[in-house]
Amino acid sequence: MTYKASSKRYQNMQYRNTGTSGLKLPLLSLGLWHNFGGNSMSAESKKILFKAFDLGITHFDLANNYGPPYGSAESNFGKVMQQDLMKYRDELIISSKAGYDMWEGPYGEWGSKKHIIASCDQSLKRMKLDYVDIFYSHRFDPNTPLEETADALESIYRSGKALYIGVSSYSAKKTNAMSSILKKRGIKILIHQPSYSLINRWIEKDLSSSLKKNEIGCIAFSPLAQGMLSEKYLKGIPKISRANQTITSLDKKLITKRNIQIIQELNMIAKNRGQSLSQMAIAWVLNNKIITSALIGVRNTKQLLENVHALENLNFSKEELKLIDKKALDGGINIWAQSSSF
Ligand SMILES: NC(=O)c1ccc[n+]([C@@H]2O[C@H](COP(=O)([O-])OP(=O)(O)OC[C@H]3O[C@@H](n4cnc5c(N)ncnc54)[C@H](OP(=O)(O)O)[C@@H]3O)[C@@H](O)[C@H]2O)c1
Repeated sequence: MTYKASSKRYQNMQYRNTGTSGLKLPLLSLGLWHNFGGNSMSAESKKILFKAFDLGITHFDLANNYGPPYGSAESNFGKVMQQDLMKYRDELIISSKAGYDMWEGPYGEWGSKKHIIASCDQSLKRMKLDYVDIFYSHRFDPNTPLEETADALESIYRSGKALYIGVSSYSAKKTNAMSSILKKRGIKILIHQPSYSLINRWIEKDLSSSLKKNEIGCIAFSPLAQGMLSEKYLKGIPKISRANQTITSLDKKLITKRNIQIIQELNMIAKNRGQSLSQMAIAWVLNNKIITSALIGVRNTKQLLENVHALENLNFSKEELKLIDKKALDGGINIWAQSSSF
C-alpha cells in the first residue's frame, strides 16, 4: 500500500525562515547519513521517513556518499520518493552535497568543478529527482580555488538542478569569501551546515556572527553529538548503538570518562527541566537564534518521537543557561574540525 500523509502534519511543527530568505525550515530536520543505506531501505527506516513527514518534518538531508555503501542512502531514498513521496515533492525540502570521497580517482572528491557537477548529476539520478532544493559544497577544499567551487555551484544553480546553495563546515573566513564570490555572481548562500551541540560549540567563536552578517541561515548537524547527548552511554556502550558498530563515525575513544561526567551533569539539568537529555540538547541548539533548524539522525521512530517532544519546551531560564554554560564543556568530538581550520 502506498503511503498517505497525515492530514494533521502541519498542526504542531514550527518553522523558521532560513537566514533572511523566504524559505522556511522545520525546527527539526531529518538526516539520512546513518540507518538508510544498504541494499534496500529497512521497514523501520521507511517508517521514520513517513512518521517524520506526518509530524511536519519537511526537510530530508542527504549527501552523495551516505550509506554504506556510498550512494545507497540516495538510491533507497529515490525508491521511496518514486513510490510514496513524489506526490508531496512540493512540500519537501531535499538536500544533497558533494566534496567528501565518493568514487575512485582524482575527481571522486573535493571541490573541483569536475567533481561537484558530476556528483550532483549522480545524486539526482539516484534520488530520481529533477532538482534538489539545496545543494551543498560539503567541505572547503584547500587545493582548489574557491572561485572554481563557486563556478560549479553557480552552474548547478543556474541550470535549475538546485534551488538554493549551501556550504558545510566552512570556517567563518571561507564562508565570508565564498559568500562574496557568489554575491558578485548574483547568488546568495542560503545556508551553512556546521556541527553544533552542547559539547561542540565551535560556531560560537566567529562563524555565528559571520552568518548573521551575511544573512545566511544555519542548520546544525549532530545536535545530539551522534547520540552521546542522550542517556544511552551513561552505563557503558550498549550493543545497539552507533559507537558499537564496526564501521562507524563515532569512535568509542570519544566516550571518555570526562565526557561521561559532562553528560551526567547535563542529564541532571535536563531532568530538572522535565526533559530527557536528548530533548534538552535539541532545545538548547534551537535556543541560539542563529539556528534555523536542528538536523538530527534517528535509528527508529521511538527516538524520533522522543526528539520531536523537545519542541514542547524550548525556553530556558537565565539560571539554566548559566548552569549549562558552566557544565557544557567542549568534548573534543568535532571530527569535522579540520575542514573548518582554513
Ligand atoms: N555536513 C556534514 O558534514 C554532516 C556530518 C554529519 C552529519 N550530517 C547530517 O546531520 C544528520 C544528523 O547527524 P547525526 O546522525 O550525527 O545526528 P545526531 O542527532 O547527533 O545523532 C543521531 C544518533 O543519536 C542517537 N539518538 C537519536 N535520538 C536519540 C534518542 N532520543 N535517544 C538515544 N539516542 C538517540 C541515534 O544513534 P544510535 O544508533 O546510537 O541509536 C542516532 O542515530 C546526518 O544524517 C546528516 O544529514 C552532516
